[in-house]
Amino acid sequence: MINIPKGTKDALPSEIYKWHFIEAAARRTSEKYGFKEIRTPVFEHTELFSRGVGDTTDVVTKEMYTFLDKGGRSVTLRPEGTAGVARAFIENGLQGGAMPFKTYYLISAFRYERPQAGRLREFHQFGAELYGAEGPAADAETIAFAYRFLREIGVITAVKLHINSIGCPACRAKYQAALKEYFRPHLGEMCEDCRSRFDKNPMRMIDCKEENCKKYTANAPRMLDFLCEECRAHFEGVKSLLTAAGVSYDVDPSIVRGLDYYSRTVFEFTSDALGAQSTVLGGGRYDTLLSQLGAKPTPAVGFAAGLERLIMLLDALNISPAEKKADCYLLGMDENSREKAFLLAEVLRSEGLICETDLLGRSVKAQFKYADKLGARFVVVLGEEELSEGAAEVKDMETSASVRVRFGALAQYIKQRRKV
Ligand code: HAM
Repeated sequence: MINIPKGTKDALPSEIYKWHFIEAAARRTSEKYGFKEIRTPVFEHTELFSRGVGDTTDVVTKEMYTFLDKGGRSVTLRPEGTAGVARAFIENGLQGGAMPFKTYYLISAFRYERPQAGRLREFHQFGAELYGAEGPAADAETIAFAYRFLREIGVITAVKLHINSIGCPACRAKYQAALKEYFRPHLGEMCEDCRSRFDKNPMRMIDCKEENCKKYTANAPRMLDFLCEECRAHFEGVKSLLTAAGVSYDVDPSIVRGLDYYSRTVFEFTSDALGAQSTVLGGGRYDTLLSQLGAKPTPAVGFAAGLERLIMLLDALNISPAEKKADCYLLGMDENSREKAFLLAEVLRSEGLICETDLLGRSVKAQFKYADKLGARFVVVLGEEELSEGAAEVKDMETSASVRVRFGALAQYIKQRRKV
């Protein structure tokens, strides 16, 4: 027996309706905001992520699935979607097109993390990216989009939106200097990661999960106190648009996000109904990523939600999306009727109905039992008598009532009643 790799999961047919429910809401909401789908490769050149996501992040330094392909090139399974979308935008010359450019994706992503509830090595994201708009309305629209999506799947009352601004490279440099000054005397007592972050990117220290480091990070200077005039005005603009749109939020200065490309607005939706991995959706503005990857400067903002965490949240809240069930089961009582059932099933499917029939040569009783298991609303019973009459006995499994219906009228009959 070969087992599934650690940190990965099968999405079984019996559970898939939850995935479809979330994916359909993602597509529907994206459409409302004018976002069209993009599909990019599962693997990219490693350099895209080390340059794009940032080589001081845990994602790049510890978590990437990187390997040499048979041609000796270093490639990496995408740890997230943003960098690949940016590459595709530049490579396909989309900068020349109409702005803003809006796109969304439903993807699998890979991070070599220690697996636990809500943290996987292969996970799935619904993400969206908006390029070419630098004003606060783009941030607010992106956050409102995420908010509406979470409302659409019914979890909005169980999540909280936290927002922050981490400024632009100019004001952040002053902040990083202040952080260094603050952390320097405590460095000896902080973890090895923090000591290396101190040199490369002290803001990342704020995010440290070590209990001992948290003692120091709790009172560290806050980026919000260092924002330059433009960044402050931008953040005020985002907040007032969100308030006007009825999107409630908390300003949380501790949010710095785990990826290097962010500037100005950052945000996360978290839920107390989940365990330690409580962030269901995260994102922010990243105005320097595209130019870092070789494009002309293009402002950008986006988010991604973890689908496994959203499913955990649906389960925790007892939200059960409707599962598509069979409209009818065609039951043949003997050899001849079984063949008719097979053919009628084809006719009904071409009329748009979901139907099944016997493939195992089961008894009438066993077929009824199976139809019940399928959740079929109607069982269309065919025997010698029905065949000679050209009409089937249709049993409504909800009311147990039975009616004779001519073969030619079956589809219409079932369609009219399945809605009831
Ligand atoms: P992220 O915060 O790294 O951001 O991931 C977004 C979401 O993906 C998280 O909030 C979480 O729900 C889910 N997620 C991340 N890692 C795991 C994991 N190991 N197991 C299960 N779920 C996970 C990004 O990926 C950015 N690209 C978002 C973005 C788009 N920013 C701008 N545009």
